[in-house]
Amino acid sequence: MDPAALIPTPDAIPVHWGWLQLLLQTTLFCHILLMNITVGTACIALVGYIRDRGAPSPCTELVVRAMPFTIAFTVNFGVAPLLFGQVLYGQFLYTSSILMAVFWLAIVGLLIVAYALAYFAKHLPAGSGSGRPAVAVLTALLLLATAFFFVNNFSLMQAPASWSRYFAHPRGLLLNLGDPTFIPRFLHFIVGAVAIGGLAIALWFRWRRSQGEDSADRWIGHGCRWFSFATLANAGIGLWFLASLPHGLIPPATSTGRLFLLCLAGGSVFALAALFFGLSNRAVPALACILVTLALMLGARSLLRATLLAPWFSLEQLPLAPATTPFMLFVLILAAGLALIAWMMRFTLRAMDGGGQQP
Ligand code: HEM
Repeated sequence: MDPAALIPTPDAIPVHWGWLQLLLQTTLFCHILLMNITVGTACIALVGYIRDRGAPSPCTELVVRAMPFTIAFTVNFGVAPLLFGQVLYGQFLYTSSILMAVFWLAIVGLLIVAYALAYFAKHLPAGSGSGRPAVAVLTALLLLATAFFFVNNFSLMQAPASWSRYFAHPRGLLLNLGDPTFIPRFLHFIVGAVAIGGLAIALWFRWRRSQGEDSADRWIGHGCRWFSFATLANAGIGLWFLASLPHGLIPPATSTGRLFLLCLAGGSVFALAALFFGLSNRAVPALACILVTLALMLGARSLLRATLLAPWFSLEQLPLAPATTPFMLFVLILAAGLALIAWMMRFTLRAMDGGGQQP
């Protein structure tokens, strides 16, 4: 069957697609950064609890205290890219969501349980006997499962050629595990999250040291080590991901190919600089460099999606039905919402610093 027959007709967009793409990339950057902090710190706490047989440490205590906040921010910052992604790629995203509907809808349940457990863990007494480590580890596993389903959907949406499997398995249980890019893509996200999670821990304790906490030095080094070794490992996984792409997919001689290579090369150079700073426990310059890497890698990811979808669709084909005023109103409300969230973050940080009291 011709997979093109399975792609619905797209709706018209209210402004030039370039604006929507810019908003998608900007909001996705925020979401992925927050997701990295949530999933990465959860994974580091998971290893910490297993290694210390459930005994608490300042690092695991920090993660357990922060988890309800980080999950909430990640989820809320996921909404905007989902909206922009649906406007630009709805005909692909809706279809892949239906093919894996059971797992896609299960994400709602997984996140509700993870969020509830994160609050529960936070309010249990510290210590191995209290059940707190077990609850925190379970929360981390639920977050990993959520990420797994996200990678399934966002890789399935750009592979319409595989959609006809639906007719043999019409139960909404299709995953994208047969795609050779799937495992390196998932690992690239998770190991990247561990790196950023380590850096977030280092930055928190750097701030604590500036407040006079002498014992914080040890945990700055701990976070920076997680950051550096995960970044090193992720360079290898990134190469694996690149090698798993169909041969000759993005010819370097084309303008897309040149831009793709520029994003990858620029991202790698900044990652190398971040690694250097991480290994010398300099968390702030490491953060500056890795944020540039993240932005460039998300750019490369977007070019890859455009190339994979090129046989079926390009953004230029989206019909335009100009409606600038509602769009401007939307952007204003979005900006006001972001300002409100930034204001809330100040309360959050103050509450965390005060040992986890509610703001
Ligand atoms: C803590 C829970 C979450 C985790 C661990 C998580 C994880 C991820 C991961 C790993 C990706 C990358 C997928 C890929 O490109 O292969 C991703 C992308 C994305 N997530 Fe989340 N996510 C979470 C919550 C949410 C929520 C609740 C929403 C929506 C309300 C959301 C919206 C998105 C969108 C729209 C993208 C991709 C956008 C695009 O590529 O255009 N996420 N997420």
